[in-house]
Amino acid sequence: MAHRKTRVASCIGMALLAFGGTCAAATQGSDARPWMNPRLSPDQRAELVLKAMTQDEKFHLIRTEFGDNQNGHTMSPGALGSAGYQPALARLGLPAIQESDAGLGVAKPLKLGATALPSGLATAASFDPAVAFAGGAMIGGEAHRRGFNVMLAGGVDLVRDPRNGRNFEYAGEDPLLAGLIAGNAIAGIQSQHLVSTIKHYALNDLETDRNTLSANIDRAAARESDLLAFEIAIATGKPGSVMCSYNRINAVYACEDDWLLNQVLKHDWHYPGFVMSDWGAVHSAAKAALAGLDQESAGETFDKEVYFDQPLRAAVASGEVPQSRIDDMARRILRSLFAAGVIDHPAKPAPIDFDADRKVAQRTEEAGAVLLRNRDALLPLSAAQSVAVIGGHADKGVLTGGGSSAVQSPQGNAVPGLAPTDWPGPRLYQPSAPLAAIERRAHGKVDYASGDDIAAAAKLAARAKVAVVFVEQWAAESFDVPHLALPGNQDALVEAVAKANPHTIVVLENNGPVAMPWLDQVGAVLEAWYPGAAGGEAIARLLYGEVDPSGRLPVTWPRDESQLPRPTIPGAGLASIGMPPQGQPAQDVDYNVEGANVGYRWYQRKHLEPLFPFGYGLTYTHFEYSDFKPRVEHGRVTASFTVSNRGSRAGVDVPQLYVTLPGSGEVRRLAGWCRVNLKPGQSAHLVATADPRLLANFDGQGRHWQQPAGDYQLQLGHSATSFQGEGKVTLAAASWGADASPAGVAQPCMTGG
Ligand code: BGC
Repeated sequence: MAHRKTRVASCIGMALLAFGGTCAAATQGSDARPWMNPRLSPDQRAELVLKAMTQDEKFHLIRTEFGDNQNGHTMSPGALGSAGYQPALARLGLPAIQESDAGLGVAKPLKLGATALPSGLATAASFDPAVAFAGGAMIGGEAHRRGFNVMLAGGVDLVRDPRNGRNFEYAGEDPLLAGLIAGNAIAGIQSQHLVSTIKHYALNDLETDRNTLSANIDRAAARESDLLAFEIAIATGKPGSVMCSYNRINAVYACEDDWLLNQVLKHDWHYPGFVMSDWGAVHSAAKAALAGLDQESAGETFDKEVYFDQPLRAAVASGEVPQSRIDDMARRILRSLFAAGVIDHPAKPAPIDFDADRKVAQRTEEAGAVLLRNRDALLPLSAAQSVAVIGGHADKGVLTGGGSSAVQSPQGNAVPGLAPTDWPGPRLYQPSAPLAAIERRAHGKVDYASGDDIAAAAKLAARAKVAVVFVEQWAAESFDVPHLALPGNQDALVEAVAKANPHTIVVLENNGPVAMPWLDQVGAVLEAWYPGAAGGEAIARLLYGEVDPSGRLPVTWPRDESQLPRPTIPGAGLASIGMPPQGQPAQDVDYNVEGANVGYRWYQRKHLEPLFPFGYGLTYTHFEYSDFKPRVEHGRVTASFTVSNRGSRAGVDVPQLYVTLPGSGEVRRLAGWCRVNLKPGQSAHLVATADPRLLANFDGQGRHWQQPAGDYQLQLGHSATSFQGEGKVTLAAASWGADASPAGVAQPCMTGG
């Protein structure tokens, strides 16, 4: 009996949940399991396991089940109550797979809580790969200490539409910026010995009808835009897994798209990891397996049937799917587990330093909030001023986006009970109240009004020296917002407060660009995105100038919907969640309207003037550029320049290098940038290198990249529309195969001599 008890205890530690294994087998030495030798390469180790595997064990590995107790699913005893679970393969010493959402922190179990990063757009707005890495390492560390070994993170779908309900999970509209930010976030997560995904592959750029929608786009345009973001992020972060998306692309479901998975991802990009499906994104067995899908996620709960069990076994038996394909699926999964350190550094419950982690979230917000307007240097505030704080539940906390990525604080939801309380809710607030953070700084009187009573709020504002109005736009996975207007009576609230007090500051907590009909009436606007676990503190530090705003917009801010490639999204809105009604044809969305010219490139091509351009953001000081000199050095296009802080405060600048290729009209591309911290009066001599992946066009016919011969115009920008420094270099024609992209730039910015 005693013996038995000991064995059970060691089983629990190893999460051995009876897939043909025993505890005794699990304690075998590494001689019997040569793949446990960490000196072997991940490929060698995967190969060794594969050789030892039975067919049942391979089929065990290529699917996960839902890890939660919802949607009619009964959670398996070993699961942690999150997105995905696969029992351990005890005989082989392989741990259970425990998968957790998502890119902004550990989302489940909701009640346990975790540290929420600000929106992905805030991280992207920092233009700082180190900020992205630190955020990834923080959330990956929490996930590992909760017992998870796969994190469903790395959102990098491009922002083609500011109304997409998941923009807050992504990294903006530019492929280079999004790719480097998401890639570094993934590298940060994986530094904690977890597999990270990159998702949602690909073109899941709208949520409306996402389960059936066909994203129609010319393949070459896709390679230069959305797929380029994935290519750069994968090369940078080396995620163990790619999550294929719900939508179809040119009528083919992403998870059974041979072009997307086999040709582009695995052949052209030499991707060695595995493709897992999104939850409910599989529609076939043989077709999906042959197209390159390696693992079906939670099929028993979300797919019509578990395709990667009996139907796939039958396809192997009939010869439709070769055995070598099943082996390849298993090998890829195993390789990623070894490469990320999942086997050598098992995830297990351990204490979490929430105070330290909240600081990481705070620094991300401080680096990524964008100051959009600051008339007459209204900001920074001085402690002597009295303040009316209004709206946005600023007395309680800051808003969080909804859906599978929503993270609840360990202290709970600061504003419980707001609709929707069910999927894609609950609507969560982080308990980091801006009001308290302002009170800690102001010596003058600080009052609060909820904003529900507009007249009362205006009255409060009139009595204070300055008014800070918090406005919010909740967005979530599974729906798009139908228009850019702020919900409810918030526009009227801002207008009334601005009328009562000329020193009105608006703080936006939102999914991204919104209409601001009152913009000219207010003194300052701070884009705080969804500000994360320490949002209140970070916002107050920015408002009081304890830290200089340094974020730059990773998305173009339209004047209104008419400037967008598609002025309306048919069927958008919270009411549209779910599948289209029976019999209704699936939606098509025509991304050929803008093609590869996403975001700022669309505005340039159409000669449209946005409200705020990509790359834009104010600081409490100002910067000037001089000595701009582009040149070609060792085959790389570089530009040296001097950036000088001409103001009276220290601050951070993000000089941006844009390139116009020969024959591309007026469409510029972001090719590199620097981020530099300068004291008042200080200058720095810097060299930015253009990423070679931005200097070529994809030739869809010939399936190669083509660098055209001719003059390349280079411009140094404060944003995508404001330049100080211009020149050109001449390049000879060059081309390389679709499978031979040049390596990216290790150091896009260097301090010059
Ligand atoms: C989302 C994924 C998520 C998965 C598991 C899906 O609805 O699209 O991003 O990782 O659910 O929760």
